[in-house]
Amino acid sequence: MPVVFLTITNNSGGGQPVSLANIRAASELCHRYGVPLFLDACRFAENAWFIHEREEGQSGREIADIVREIASLADGMTMSAKKDPFGNIGGWLALNDDNVAESCRNLLIMTEGFPTYGGLAGRDLEALAQGLKEAVHPDYLRYRIRSTAYLGDALDGAGIPVVKPIGGHAVYIDARALLSHVPPLHYPGQSLAIALYRAGGIRSCEIGSVMFGRQPDGTEVPAAMELVRLAIPRRTYTQSHIDYVIEVVTSVAKKASSLPGYRITYEPPSLRHFTARFAPLE
Ligand SMILES: Cc1ncc(COP(=O)(O)O)c(C=O)c1O
Repeated sequence: MPVVFLTITNNSGGGQPVSLANIRAASELCHRYGVPLFLDACRFAENAWFIHEREEGQSGREIADIVREIASLADGMTMSAKKDPFGNIGGWLALNDDNVAESCRNLLIMTEGFPTYGGLAGRDLEALAQGLKEAVHPDYLRYRIRSTAYLGDALDGAGIPVVKPIGGHAVYIDARALLSHVPPLHYPGQSLAIALYRAGGIRSCEIGSVMFGRQPDGTEVPAAMELVRLAIPRRTYTQSHIDYVIEVVTSVAKKASSLPGYRITYEPPSLRHFTARFAPLE
């Protein structure tokens, strides 16, 4: 059955939040046409924080209350629990409809095994139960969003083009602007991601024509944006780690005009951005 998926926050669109007004309208539209609305909810707490901070009439509400309303508007959700819920690994599929949940469990038995066969260890479930509470705490969220903005503001201040306003979990560099000499189908974002790794061991991710350029008929069309995502794990890095990232990105950006374009030497039939191989263009 087709469903509509809403990713909160928008990971491929610069980490921007989805407003409550937008989620309410999407829910109303889906339900008017009998289409279930699902959330890719792994950054639910950061999204709720932005709603609290920026959306009219929401600042007086508890974050958990906003999260409950968001969940009430959807028919189901997927969760990558190593994001906002602070899990080490794992996640869940949540469904309102018990019959659909039962068919999912049956499919699981055929494809992976009984739900009781394994999955998350008890200690990981404990960590999630605690993580879900901590993830909606305003002190934590203020610190989290502020630390990401620290990196974004520093790069912006150094004249590096970044998506603004800065998102919650990542800073997105505009590689199309920074490497304007590299055409989209020579993958400027990939070129920058490779340069950052080679210069300073910084693992970023291209979100551009490598990820979205290939069409179902095999042709290539430039993606809407050529971004490089610097995602920041929660509660992992200190300010000096981030200062190091700022130093490396700034020095790579200074020589951006000398970075080469790339071509793909291997790509799998689908989701090529995970495992493609590249060679520089001379
Ligand atoms: C928005 C979004 N959904 C889903 C996933 C997949 O999560 P997992 O690696 O836990 O399957 C990711 C991973 O980065 C993500 O950013």
